[in-house]
Amino acid sequence: MVGVYEKQVLPRIINRVCGVGTLKPLRARVCAGLEGSVIEIGFGSGHNVPFYPAGVTSVAAVEPSDVGWKLAGRRVAASTVPITRSGLDGQSLPFDAGSHDAVLSTWTLCTVPDAAVALAEFRRVLKPGGKLHFLEHGLAPDERVRRWQRRLDPLQQRIAGGCHFTRPIVELVKAAGFTISELDVFYEPGPKVAGADSLGIAISP
Ligand SMILES: C[S@@+](CC[C@H](N)C(=O)[O-])C[C@H]1O[C@@H](n2cnc3c(N)ncnc32)[C@H](O)[C@@H]1O
Repeated sequence: MVGVYEKQVLPRIINRVCGVGTLKPLRARVCAGLEGSVIEIGFGSGHNVPFYPAGVTSVAAVEPSDVGWKLAGRRVAASTVPITRSGLDGQSLPFDAGSHDAVLSTWTLCTVPDAAVALAEFRRVLKPGGKLHFLEHGLAPDERVRRWQRRLDPLQQRIAGGCHFTRPIVELVKAAGFTISELDVFYEPGPKVAGADSLGIAISP
């Protein structure tokens, strides 16, 4: 039953939740400035596709869910940028070291089982000076919200495919050796527990 929920039901819920119009301006912001060969981690059902700038030459989509990839079909077909499903796990990327210009990750580092391992992989596959564009929810700036995040985290992990509320995204990005060049920390409209976002660009050494 858990298998059916996670494989069939959850990707459809994610498609709906992640497809809401209020997120579009945030997607536009995180995709702005992407150039060249891009790897999108946790591609989901492709809600960032309409926001890829003209300078993007190719996108390698890394997504474990077959249903998510299928739900992306129309967006992938309509894209002027070639998009290829190229991997299943952000923690183990099938690309050579220093092979790509940018990595894009939106609301995914919360769910990848080990975010530090994934970030080390992003660094490995990026060219020197390559950019990580990230838009992630995580540990809130305020202690009152953090307390609720810690309380609700076990439930969230169970119902949302392993998603954590409590990951310190910016600290994880820095600990992986990236230099943050742009950063905005804010709450999305709605419950703060799930909407403590960090949007930024980090440069690989
Ligand atoms: C909340 S969804 C976000 C989807 C998409 N990035 C968006 O902005 O709409 C998290 C995504 O991460 C994917 N995911 C889970 N584990 C992953 C892993 N180890 N590597 C890459 N993606 C993963 C899920 O299948 C899901 O599509």
